[in-house]
Amino acid sequence: MFIRSSDELPGVTVLRRFPVPRNFNVSADSRIERGKTWHAPSDATRVKKFEIYRYDPDSGQNPRIETYEVDLDTCGPMVLDALIAIKNDIDPTLTFRRSCREGVCGSCSMNIDGTNWLACTRFISDTAEPATIYPLNHLKVIKDLVPDLTQLFVQYSLIEPWLHTTTPEPEKERLQSPEDRGKVDGFYECILCFCCTSGCPSHWWNGDRFLGPAVLLQSYRWLIDSRDEATGDRLDDLEDPFRLYRCHTILNCTRTCPKQLNPGKAIAAIKKMIVQRRS
Ligand code: SF4
Ligand code: SF4
Ligand code: FES
Repeated sequence: MFIRSSDELPGVTVLRRFPVPRNFNVSADSRIERGKTWHAPSDATRVKKFEIYRYDPDSGQNPRIETYEVDLDTCGPMVLDALIAIKNDIDPTLTFRRSCREGVCGSCSMNIDGTNWLACTRFISDTAEPATIYPLNHLKVIKDLVPDLTQLFVQYSLIEPWLHTTTPEPEKERLQSPEDRGKVDGFYECILCFCCTSGCPSHWWNGDRFLGPAVLLQSYRWLIDSRDEATGDRLDDLEDPFRLYRCHTILNCTRTCPKQLNPGKAIAAIKKMIVQRRS
C-alpha cells in the first residue's frame, strides 16, 4: 500500500510517466516581448491598466506582455472580475482558470504584482498601477495564465490523502472528539491552489523529489487526524532526504498562502514527529 524508499516509489514510476522538465517552460533564449495595448473607450472615466502575460506554446512565438485598459465602472471589484471583463469584452483569447469566485476552489491562483495569490480574493484597488499578472511561477505554462499542475497532483496522490484504517468499521461513523477535530484546524482549509509550492525555492530546484509545502501540509493533516491508523507508514514514506528534508524553513510558502495557512509550521511538525518516534 505504501511507498518504502525513494528508489522504489510507485510514484516515481508515475513521475516518469509525467516527466518534469529540468529546463523552464520556455527555451533559455526566449525573451518576453511587448505586445499590443488594448485602449479603453474614450468616454471611460475610471481606467485601470493590467499588464498580462500571454503565451501559447503551440504558436511558436515568444511570450508577450499585453496591456489592457479596463473601465472599472463596467466590472466588479476583484482582479478576477477584471480578467473576466477583459475576456468577455476586450480579448476573448485570454486564458485563465476560475470556478468558484469565492476563494474556495483554488483554481484562479496566479502571480499578481509579484506575489502568488487568488485572483478572486485580490481587490483591484490593492494592486499596483499598472497591475502585473503572470501565471504561477516556475511551472510549465499550458497557455497564458494556466500552469500545468500535473506534477503537483501526482505528488499529492503519493501521500494517499484519504483516511487509512485497519480496525473493523464501526456500525456508524468513526467518531472524533471536538478536541481531536480541532487539531486539523489550520490544515484542512487548504484549497490546493499551490501558491505556496510555486513560491518555494526548494521545490524550484528539487521539484521532482521534494514534495513541496502544499503536499506536506496535506500530509500533516492526515498524520494528526485521530481516526487515521497509518501514522507510522505515513512517516516512513516521508522520512527521505528529499521528500521532506529539502525544506529549509525559508517560509516563502507561509508568506504567500492566500488562506493564511502555515505550511512551514506543518513541515516543522512532521520533522518533530519523526524525531519523537525515534526517542
Ligand atoms: S519553508 Fe520549506 S516548504 Fe516553505 S518555502 Fe521554505 S523551503 Fe519551501
Ligand atoms: S497551503 Fe495555502 S497556498 Fe498552499 S496550497 Fe494550501 S491554500 Fe494554497
Ligand atoms: S475562482 Fe475559486 S479560488 Fe478563485
